[in-house]
Order: sequence, then C-alpha cells, then structure tokens
Amino acid sequence: MRDNDFEASFELISMLADGKIHSGRELAVALGVSRAAVWKRIGKLAGLGVDVVKVRSLGYKLPKPIEFLDVALLQKNLSTVIPGRAVSVEVVKQVDSTNLALLRRERSTEESAVTCLLAEQQTSGRGRRGKTWHSPLGENVYLSILWQTQLSLNKLNGLSLALGVVIATMLSEVFGINAQLKWPNDVLVKNKKIAGILVEVDGALEGPLRVVVGLGLNVTTEHETTEPNGHNWTSVRAQSERNASRTDVALNVMSGLLLALHEFERLGFRAFRQRWIALDAYAGMPVQITSHEHSHTGLNRGVDENGALVLDVDGVLHTISSGEVSLRVRA
Ligand code: BTN
Repeated sequence: MRDNDFEASFELISMLADGKIHSGRELAVALGVSRAAVWKRIGKLAGLGVDVVKVRSLGYKLPKPIEFLDVALLQKNLSTVIPGRAVSVEVVKQVDSTNLALLRRERSTEESAVTCLLAEQQTSGRGRRGKTWHSPLGENVYLSILWQTQLSLNKLNGLSLALGVVIATMLSEVFGINAQLKWPNDVLVKNKKIAGILVEVDGALEGPLRVVVGLGLNVTTEHETTEPNGHNWTSVRAQSERNASRTDVALNVMSGLLLALHEFERLGFRAFRQRWIALDAYAGMPVQITSHEHSHTGLNRGVDENGALVLDVDGVLHTISSGEVSLRVRA
C-alpha cells in the first residue's frame, strides 16, 4: 500500500474504531470525499487485516472496537522511570518488525539514551527460532526497547529469562493473572502462551552492545494453534477480571522491563534466578529438549546462574543453554 493510501485507510479506521455504525454519508463528510470514495477505501481495509461489516441501509462498522495506544500517556509516565537514563517512547501505526526497526537505527551518541518503539501492527513480526509473530492491528502490545550497554555478550546470559520473570510478575500483581514461565522465556497462563520475548544484540563480543528487547504480549488475541506441538494462545482480556486497556498493559509492562534492564545491568541473572525457579511451569517434570540436531529427555531441575536449563538425565545433571532449542513436556 502506498503511503497516501495507507494514511487514508488509517483515517477511516480511526473513525470506525469505536465499533459503532457510521453511515457512508457521515464518513464521506468527515473525510471530505464522495460516498463512492468511502466505499472504495472500505474495500482496501481488508489489506490491513481489518474486516468491515456493512449494516444494510445504515452504514459500516468494525466487528469489534479498536483501541489505539495513548502515546502521550506512555511518554509522560515512562520518560523518567530509570534513574539517570532518558527514555523516549515512539508509537508507529505499522512497521515490519519493531525489533528490526530499532536494529536498523544508527548507534546513538547519547550512550545512556533508551528508545522504546511500539507498533499498532507489524507486517513481519519476528518470533524465536525463525517463527513469525502474529501481530494484528490494534489488538496486542508489540514493543521493542533499544538499550545501549558497555556489558560484554557473556554478561547478557539469562537476560531474556529475567525479562520473563518481570512480565509474569506484572501480570500477576497488576492484572491478577496466574502466569508462569516455560524455559527459556515463554510466558504461559493455564498452559497457553500469552507473551514471548525476543532479544537481539548488535555490537562487539566484549561490548559495547546495542540490545534490542522485543516483547509480544497478547491483550485481546486468542487462538488455537495450527502448528504441530505448538501452543494455544490466550490474552490479558481473557484471563483478567480487570478490563485492561492496551495502554494500561503497555505502561505496566514497559516500566517493569525498563527497571529490570537497569537491575540486570548491575546484578545480572543472579538477581532474578530464584524468582524464575518459583515461576517455572514445569518444575521437576519430565521434559524433552529439541534442537536442530539433538533431542534430550530428562527431569527439569530448574536453571543455573546463567539461565541454562538443568536437565537430570538418569541422575546425571546436564546444562543446556537456550540458543536454538525448544522445550516440550513429556506426557
Ligand atoms: C517468541 O517467539 O516467543 C518471541 C516473540 C517476540 C515478538 C515481539 S513483537 C515485538 C517485537 N518485534 C518483533 O518482530 N518481535 C518482537
């Protein structure tokens, strides 16, 4: 979609976002175009994954309201959350991937600057192990944080696990959701996935590094998996008694993540390890670890001080670092 078309489509979506019926005439007047042009624009919304319902002789509506993020509120509450580090918050309507968008940026000369990028929609959201991250418009939190650090790469061991701890804790304390963790960093509720983290790093092995922390957290999307051995998905709305707004969820998770990055930079994974172990959904259970070439089966004995999984195979303890491996629970 060309830029102008995209902006025009977005203007229309914003008018329909309340989920109420709007007549073609009302939309045409507000947009300053003909009713035929409105009809044409409506037809293009399918390309953005937005379905519009035509209500006979009354007008158009969305099947459910779309709630856009309140960037001013996020900026106001997050800019000074970390002592000594200025935090900027940007929200874009659409991007391929918030992680990629931040990785494409030049290193900032302001070493302590932290940039948060959220998108209303991602067209190529990236998950772990080369998977795509489903990112429909206005439904969930798609967030990346760019953090510049002097730490060397090996000091980042366990970072994504530490962030999982923060997300699960926030879901429980703020939204009353009993969230748990699946190694290395899937956030689960009643065995369904609610959030995932993708940490990507750019720089020299010995530092300095640019760390991009990507979080996808479902606020309204839930669906059954179509992948063999995949997860089913749940959302904050499905699991919480509180009718949380996307901005409310984003604000809480972002302040937690920013403070955790600050703490991790000073103390490393050891400050989070016991909390990770307490949140482990499969503690003590038989699990299977699969990588491209290997598969190991054993009892899950938690994580070591680097965030590596400790697997008890016939009484012998092995450690497995996260990399490109996945964990499955054995029946
Ligand atoms: C996982 O596979 O569990 C990790 C998913 C991470 C998804 C988020 S959404 C925001 C950020 N941008 C991306 O392209 N991916 C991460």
